[in-house]
Amino acid sequence: MTGADRLHARAVRLLDSSGAFARPWMREAFRTVPRHAFVPDTVWVWHAEDDRYHPLSRADDEERWAELVHHPTEPVVTQVDDGYPALTDGTGELPTSSMSATNAVLTTLAATDPEPGSRVLHIGTGTGYDSALLCERVGGANLVTIEVDRSLADAARERLRRLGHRPRVVCGNGEFGQRQDAPYDRVLCTASLSRVPLTWIGQCAPGGRIVAPWKTTFQPAGLAVLTVDTDRRSASGRFGMPLTFMDLRGRRRPGNPLPRVYSAGRWEESRYGTATLPPDFLDDFHARFTLGLWLPGVHATRTPTPDGSPAWWLTTDTSWAYLCAGETFQWGPRDLAEEAEQAYNWWLQEGEPEVFDFGLTVDGEGQRTWLREADRTVG
Ligand SMILES: C[S@@+](CC[C@H](N)C(=O)[O-])C[C@H]1O[C@@H](n2cnc3c(N)ncnc32)[C@H](O)[C@@H]1O
Repeated sequence: MTGADRLHARAVRLLDSSGAFARPWMREAFRTVPRHAFVPDTVWVWHAEDDRYHPLSRADDEERWAELVHHPTEPVVTQVDDGYPALTDGTGELPTSSMSATNAVLTTLAATDPEPGSRVLHIGTGTGYDSALLCERVGGANLVTIEVDRSLADAARERLRRLGHRPRVVCGNGEFGQRQDAPYDRVLCTASLSRVPLTWIGQCAPGGRIVAPWKTTFQPAGLAVLTVDTDRRSASGRFGMPLTFMDLRGRRRPGNPLPRVYSAGRWEESRYGTATLPPDFLDDFHARFTLGLWLPGVHATRTPTPDGSPAWWLTTDTSWAYLCAGETFQWGPRDLAEEAEQAYNWWLQEGEPEVFDFGLTVDGEGQRTWLREADRTVG
């Protein structure tokens, strides 16, 4: 048994004892598929000192590599900057592919929960690891998995083959699905998005399920679990467990505009006010998810004051607000502090709903988020 095998066996035991396997088939699949067989020899590790991703080679530090691979709650970054590390010293800026964290894999698989023989469309193959788990459940002939990056798609196909799985691994933009193999009973997307493509609904069987991490600029994503209507023109359902995934390529949101719109001069010009909002109002994940629905396109950044008290920046391309200890400083045409206060008060009046109380409906008219009932639109 290699060190990686031992860590794999230990991970199975730990996950088992913490009840992480929501279904017996998931435990079996997780035990059977060696997670480390899906990770390239070079992975990328974020360093806080320079805020960059540095390569870590298996040959240089086998033990560290194996520990990263079998970490229960952290993803392993397997590609940066779409395969071309952005910085001249060979380090990278943006993680663009990863093997998802074990807990995220198990959460998405439990939500997808295909039957043996279900037809599954998976978007965001990455390393091929969760495709292998799906193959264990539905059989390779029933899985189509799409990866936008050719080198990643080829590597995943090869790893799956070595373990005896032969799903259809397609290199392409998963937003278009794969019509020729439709209809699917399940669509699982393992990259986050802010709009669920209608195409997936049309490619599902009636009653099929779509599972996708859906997020606003406030982050992280609520896992949308949607049931496709009998006419295959709409899909609707509640949000599940919040998860963080990287964005679909082509749908990457622009970074936080704060460095572009803030300047010391604008701070001098800013409007001063007071707020009834508690300074830690966005520390509560459920409040943050709710405000993300009410303030689309607004970015939130936590920047504690020098004495460590909570404080938040809210930013758009043209406005910012800094909220701390009952005070607000604002610049630009929008009154973001007031908007946040209204949304937060709505959240309080509604009894502090959790992300699980909200839902999403997608149809030909667009998409709508709602609270508790599909006709109570929010945002
Ligand atoms: C979080 S990683 C996938 C993790 C994968 N589930 C695993 O554990 O290996 C997301 C993947 O989605 C891929 N991706 C991004 N946009 C895509 C798109 N439009 N169509 C298909 N794949 C896409 C990325 O290249 C990346 O490999």
